[in-house]
Amino acid sequence: MSELKINHRLIMTPGPTMVDPRVSQAMSNQILGQFDPDFTQIMNDNMAMIRKSFHTKNQWAFPIDGTSRAGNEAIIGSIVKPGDSVLVPVFGRFGDLFVELAQRAGGRVTTMTADWGTVFDQDQIISEIKRLKPKVVAIVHGETSTGRLQPIDRLGKAIHEYGGFLVVDAVASYMGTPVEVDRWELDAVVGGAQKCLSIPSGITPITFNDRFAAEINQRKRVEQGVRTALDQSGSQFITSNYLDLTQLQDYWSPRRLNHHTEATVADYGLHEGLRLALHEGLPARFNRHLRVHQALNAGLTAMGLTIYHQGDHEMPMVTCVQIPDKLDGDAFRQSLLEQFGVEISSSFGSLQGKIWRIGTMGYSAQKGFILTFIALFGAALLQAGISVDLKAGLDATQAVFERPNAPVDSLVSTL
Ligand SMILES: Cc1ncc(COP(=O)(O)O)c(C=O)c1O
Repeated sequence: MSELKINHRLIMTPGPTMVDPRVSQAMSNQILGQFDPDFTQIMNDNMAMIRKSFHTKNQWAFPIDGTSRAGNEAIIGSIVKPGDSVLVPVFGRFGDLFVELAQRAGGRVTTMTADWGTVFDQDQIISEIKRLKPKVVAIVHGETSTGRLQPIDRLGKAIHEYGGFLVVDAVASYMGTPVEVDRWELDAVVGGAQKCLSIPSGITPITFNDRFAAEINQRKRVEQGVRTALDQSGSQFITSNYLDLTQLQDYWSPRRLNHHTEATVADYGLHEGLRLALHEGLPARFNRHLRVHQALNAGLTAMGLTIYHQGDHEMPMVTCVQIPDKLDGDAFRQSLLEQFGVEISSSFGSLQGKIWRIGTMGYSAQKGFILTFIALFGAALLQAGISVDLKAGLDATQAVFERPNAPVDSLVSTL
């Protein structure tokens, strides 16, 4: 077997992203034991920083060891028991993932659908919520597959009028645009690592409130081997052991009940990623994502390409661009990667072969990378026989970066 050799890449996908070298450096530190006080301090720091990142005062804010779908599965598998009613508004692939997870948990799932490339009017969802009164509403905030950002700020209030729970997948929007957990009354939320937080995948920040905790704790069952006489076993216990949020609460609290062996290196990366993000400041970070997104859109448009559903609830960290007619989108992506070392994404379902998705998330969302991207992407298109105006693309991209900063502080409540 030859030595591992990782080629240089410019990653411009909607996850994973480029990683700040300071995060990689933090992850090269020596392993600590999971109950070492030096490490439990890192765990507590991570909880505190996750709270800030979600704009929440929730006690329960900790990472799940696993990729973001493990976070979604932990939340759905803990709150949905067989027979529970669940409403999922679906407007892309990750809404379908919620359907899948809720069905596997035994939920009675109702869906409502919006055309891919669009979002729901919140009133439409609210009237369905009022009609069905589902125990759980599970919705995606940033639907990476279509590049749409779903407004969700009014749903919680409607659900809380009758005592339901709002579960949100903010995997792709988290740390790139505001996710106001307390102000928007979100009961349980999943963030992402390898998206706008820009750390390696494999650890997932989540948060949930006390009312959600009280509900899932009715199902609490501490595993044999660490169970004490004080631990009662709830009926209809959570079927997953690994993703059982009630046992994870005991692990992520002073009880430090032995559960899995924490992925210490991933926690180091999370710590440095969150520290860097909070040091940048969330309003500044959101502003940066917005500006980079606008710069990329301007550049691509000036080159002569068409942005898919431009201006229609676009995520400020995913740009969907129509694949020029007669071009094989996947063959082009492959050559862009092999010849130029640049990676972009295709899409799913009905959008497969129609759009490319370009991610401008976290560390990837910086001026130098965007200009390099436009230059290489334009050159590759020219080489593939697509006539684009590369100079106009570069000029338009640069012009957006030269505009004075528009403050976005009003988007964000103070902590
Ligand atoms: C919106 C959304 N939800 C969930 C996931 C699943 O995340 P992971 O691949 O980290 O499990 C993704 C991944 O792309 C996503 O974009």
